[in-house]
Amino acid sequence: LSSGDADLVRSAWDKVKHSEVDILAAVFSAHPDIQAKFPAFVGKDLASIKGSAAFALHATRIVSFVSEVLALAGNSATVPAIKTLVNQLGQNHKNRGVTKDQFNEFRASLTSYVSGHAPWGDNVAAAWNHALDNVYEIIFSNL
Ligand code: HEM
Repeated sequence: LSSGDADLVRSAWDKVKHSEVDILAAVFSAHPDIQAKFPAFVGKDLASIKGSAAFALHATRIVSFVSEVLALAGNSATVPAIKTLVNQLGQNHKNRGVTKDQFNEFRASLTSYVSGHAPWGDNVAAAWNHALDNVYEIIFSNL
């Protein structure tokens, strides 16, 4: 990812990164099969778990991971560090039985959330998609 594209993605992410609970709720609401993969949340009503500490903790872990990767993006020197982090994520999720389809569902919900809550032009959309294409190529190579 170019440093310019990384900056565009980071500025969009900065607008939503404090809405971690809302982001995870949007993902679960659109894709109950994703919620069902979480031992702590399977079979529960989304409205009843959304305010819980466990929900906030999981939401924060996911958002922090994205922030961690984005902090490294746009610099060829940090590509190996990104690959290590994302390969680990891919392996962890493979071990939990998460599928490519579910990762694609997650991507669709996340993109929908960010594009609706951050200034979103063609340039931002292109940078966002490029970033996610890069990360998903690494994740999918592990699944
Ligand atoms: C745990 C991030 C997609 C299911 C985690 C954790 C992170 C994370 C950081 C905690 C660390 C760990 O245990 O690995 C992400 C990111 C995703 C993604 C960045 C997309 C790019 C998904 C999808 C599913 C999923 C699509 C399910 C269909 C889980 C489960 C856990 C988990 C079940 C363990 C929760 C527990 O500890 O009980 N994820 N995840 N994740 N993720 Fe994801």
